[in-house]
Amino acid sequence: MTTETAQVPSMADWTPKSWQHLSAQQQPQWIDVDEYESAVNELRLKPPLVFAAQTRALTEQLARVSQGKGFLLHAGDCAESFAEFSADKVRDQIKVILQMSVALTYSTGLPTLKLGRIAGQYAKPRSSTTETRDGVELESFRGDIVNGIDFTFDSRRPDPQRLIQAYNQAAATHHLIDSFTKGGFADLAQVHRWNLEFVGTSDEGQRYDQLSTEIDRAMRFMAACGIDLSKERQLHEVDLYTSHEALLLGYEEALTRLDTLSGGWYGTSAHLLWIGERTRQLNGAHVHFLAGLQNPLAVKIGPSASPDDVLALCRALDPDRRAGRLTLVSRMGASKVEQCLPAIVRAVKKSGHPVVWACDPMHGNTYQHESGYKTRHFDTVMEEIAKFFGVCHGEGVWPGGVHIELTGDNVTECLGGGDEVTGSDLDSRYETLCDPRLNARQGLDLAFRLAELMRQ
Ligand code: PEP
Ligand code: CO
Repeated sequence: MTTETAQVPSMADWTPKSWQHLSAQQQPQWIDVDEYESAVNELRLKPPLVFAAQTRALTEQLARVSQGKGFLLHAGDCAESFAEFSADKVRDQIKVILQMSVALTYSTGLPTLKLGRIAGQYAKPRSSTTETRDGVELESFRGDIVNGIDFTFDSRRPDPQRLIQAYNQAAATHHLIDSFTKGGFADLAQVHRWNLEFVGTSDEGQRYDQLSTEIDRAMRFMAACGIDLSKERQLHEVDLYTSHEALLLGYEEALTRLDTLSGGWYGTSAHLLWIGERTRQLNGAHVHFLAGLQNPLAVKIGPSASPDDVLALCRALDPDRRAGRLTLVSRMGASKVEQCLPAIVRAVKKSGHPVVWACDPMHGNTYQHESGYKTRHFDTVMEEIAKFFGVCHGEGVWPGGVHIELTGDNVTECLGGGDEVTGSDLDSRYETLCDPRLNARQGLDLAFRLAELMRQ
């Protein structure tokens, strides 16, 4: 990992391509280089998926979160799938995020900033470049943007056409998000309808239903007081921003555009881009590339990060100490967060970087169940969040958000929760392409428990 003494590469010569001079971890070996170049060149001509002004609006919202005036709900898939893509799936994913944000906002009185791991979350870092089964060794699955999950030579071969398919699916997903969030579906008057069928009958579904009834009553009260609710945009539309791990730098470079208004470079594949735990080397290509973009950024911080490593990342990625620019996502694991995080928070606070502190309670708590499935337990997820809150309070910083892997489907990938998924249930609907996700009931359960934690 990064070291205290490492030098940050010069930013004076930054261009969207300058990362190519640095070592880039986790990049696939594209076998047909001409085909790869032609796919990337095709992407360079495509329209942006998000616009600079929206990206700036997200930075402003994150700045408010960094000041304790809001809470970040960063949630979505671990790895979006090409095969499973449909309008219904996107709608259900949005439903859970809307439900969770209503539960949080209603209980805490704070605005919830909604940021999806969606519309571009296709590339996965891997701990090993190959996978061996029954003596056969093939390239690891690196996400649908690179290769297929089936364990055959053809499927695992990195295919540059997938970069184009990822762009097209991300474009369609952005379009669906706009339609669902701005076209009436996200109207607060519809709050009852967001309750997914399989959630409705559960404890947390009923609790949500009660809350929706109270919201309805509050809206009727406001209307009776003479307030024209039809004029209040915030009651009828929501902003759901997009994000993904900026892992494949060729793809991200090809979608980087110069904003004529501000003169700055923007990554236009999503509003926020993040650097994962495996690619946050201070002298590496990922940190260098993202440092040159104007988008808000996030970095995952695992237990191997020292306070000096994190300070160096803050200096590289947020040299101007701009509120909303940088979110630090702690993903230590429930057993390590109290030991590893306090010194980091203390150092960053002292340095004056106005970061958003967020907790990813998923990636440090993954383990292999005896059935062979990778899983996470809901209680451990909650435990890490509670300990993260404790550390933030102890150090006098605002615990600004959570970063969660979830789906709107009734999957059985994580154990526990109000749903009480057990080890023997894992086999029934284990559908993730990569890491185990909370299902919608578990997501809503998490939001209610989180709200209680925040009220304390
Ligand atoms: C992820 O968010 O899916 C991921 C791989 O996380 P991390 O970089 O924290 O391991
Ligand atoms: Co993951």
